[in-house]
Amino acid sequence: MPKIELLDGRHDRTGFDCGVTALNNFLKATARQHARKGISRTFVLTEESDEILGFFTLTLCEIIAGDIPAKLAREYPAHSLPAVRLARLAVSRRHQKKGYGELLLADAVSRTRLIAGQAGLIGLLVDAKDESASRFYQRFGFTTISSDTLQLFMPIGTILSI
Ligand SMILES: CC(C)(COP(=O)(O)OP(=O)(O)OC[C@H]1O[C@@H](n2cnc3c(N)ncnc32)[C@H](O)[C@@H]1OP(=O)(O)O)[C@@H](O)C(=O)NCCC(=O)NCCS
Repeated sequence: MPKIELLDGRHDRTGFDCGVTALNNFLKATARQHARKGISRTFVLTEESDEILGFFTLTLCEIIAGDIPAKLAREYPAHSLPAVRLARLAVSRRHQKKGYGELLLADAVSRTRLIAGQAGLIGLLVDAKDESASRFYQRFGFTTISSDTLQLFMPIGTILSI
């Protein structure tokens, strides 16, 4: 039964390979350090063993109204606004295309809903690494912010409705 939990020392980070070196290295070298320092939290998907099938990282961020889709921006003042950033998301190559990416994304959205209930935020922001990743996020309700960036956004209204 797959489970998603906070990354800790028990999890085997060494063998993880999602095909993107920067994401592999983040998991191996940086994720726990950032968690210790309070910079971000990384959650991992495991099954029976300590093998990491996939992971995502959440952090808080501030955005300005100009960084969200124009239609939504009109509802907010121009100064900085609180949001959550999905800083990383990856599934091990051996386990891609089994629905784990979708499972991790749904969990990230659900955790964002919890944070919204405790502290207030206007949505979930993600920087897609390329057009293909951008299409992946769009399938799940993220909207692009503008045609010249790979940033996508899911407003709090959508997060609370799913
Ligand atoms: C992108 C990634 C997280 C998707 O994970 P995954 O477990 O393979 O995806 P899932 O099996 O949950 O796919 C869910 C749906 O999204 C679709 N999908 C998956 N990757 C996609 C992509 N790159 N572009 C468009 N659609 C995609 C799948 O076809 C599936 O649709 P279906 O249910 O109609 O078949 C994974 O391929 C990955 O880790 N890639 C390398 C790192 C990366 O690009 N991370 C994104 C961070 S910017």
